[in-house]
Amino acid sequence: VAAEKGGYDHFMLKEIDEQPKALRDTLRGRIDESQRKVRLDEVKLTAKELQDIQKIHIVACGTAYHAGLVGKYAIEKLVRIPVEVEVASEFRYRDPIINDKTLVLVISQSGETADTLAALRLGKSSGARVAAITNVVGSSVAREANDVIYTWAGPEIAVASTKAYTTQLLAIYLLAVFMAEKRNTISVQDRVEILQALQMIPEQAAQLVAAKDRAKEVAKGVVDWNSAFFIGRGMDYTVALEGALKLKEISYIHAEAYAAGELKHGTIALIEDGIPVISLLTQPDVYEKTMSNVIEVKARDAKIIAVVNEGDMKAADVADEMITIPKTHPLLTPILSVIPLQLLAYYASILRGNDVDKPRNLAKSVTVE
Ligand code: G6P
Repeated sequence: VAAEKGGYDHFMLKEIDEQPKALRDTLRGRIDESQRKVRLDEVKLTAKELQDIQKIHIVACGTAYHAGLVGKYAIEKLVRIPVEVEVASEFRYRDPIINDKTLVLVISQSGETADTLAALRLGKSSGARVAAITNVVGSSVAREANDVIYTWAGPEIAVASTKAYTTQLLAIYLLAVFMAEKRNTISVQDRVEILQALQMIPEQAAQLVAAKDRAKEVAKGVVDWNSAFFIGRGMDYTVALEGALKLKEISYIHAEAYAAGELKHGTIALIEDGIPVISLLTQPDVYEKTMSNVIEVKARDAKIIAVVNEGDMKAADVADEMITIPKTHPLLTPILSVIPLQLLAYYASILRGNDVDKPRNLAKSVTVE
């Protein structure tokens, strides 16, 4: 096992560090030389078939579900098809409305999660087209789906998922641009902009994993934390959910993610002196709105840890701690903003003396219902 860890103390940190490579591998060969087109030969959906699709259901569990939430934003924005995202254990038991005009997209790192597999089968038996994003070649999900997009993250051993999530996001963006192109809902200019930004992501992820010390510093205060909040709007909210999950899973600190605008409807009652509020502020169209929520919790003496785009001067005035991410297209920030949150959870777990790779009560792959 020591050899497999390649000099690292834990698989989780090794896998965080592997993200630039995993992203590069997942991207390889999937954007053509003109930088205008996505090549996803494995997706056999034709333009005609895509025209007929009226609804997309994204179904997954855990971290893969959080990747699906980003998928809703990306697909609805670029492809203009309504998307519902649901955890597999809910979807399969509620008699969802599915037919031959539906695309069910399942996301699963292992390709073996029992509930996700059952959701896939429900989709198929109801006449839907089923596409899958998975990391394991030949897994049950890969064998049973009509179209399979592989993430090339390599084996993920740590229970807390990291490189699987970021490569799932990458696969989702590629699929969204691919579908938008086929349905004519995206301009060449927007396509080029997104595809060029995507190609910079592996290098930008490398910058973030190299900046570990920042996350380590922020985690120093963690011994005093009983609870933490993660807030954001839009895609930042989906990353807040994933950041909170990472912290819960391995540090055992109670963490809650909230849509920033919803704070005032309840959660703000819990904000008190010194409570950490990890605030994601990467989305330009809702920046001011989220910032006003940050100021509200700051006024109640919360400790503000802001995750912002490079060059954000405004946040510096309010934040107790700042973590910056390199500039990218606003649709793509989740791939980058999650990395410091993975690192924060990792160092929090270490500082609390926990077993990082094998957190209590959790399994890497849940193959029972
Ligand atoms: C377990 C793991 C999570 C993972 C989830 C879904 O709960 O601990 O890290 O996100 O299963 O797994 P899958 O293999 O379907 O992506």
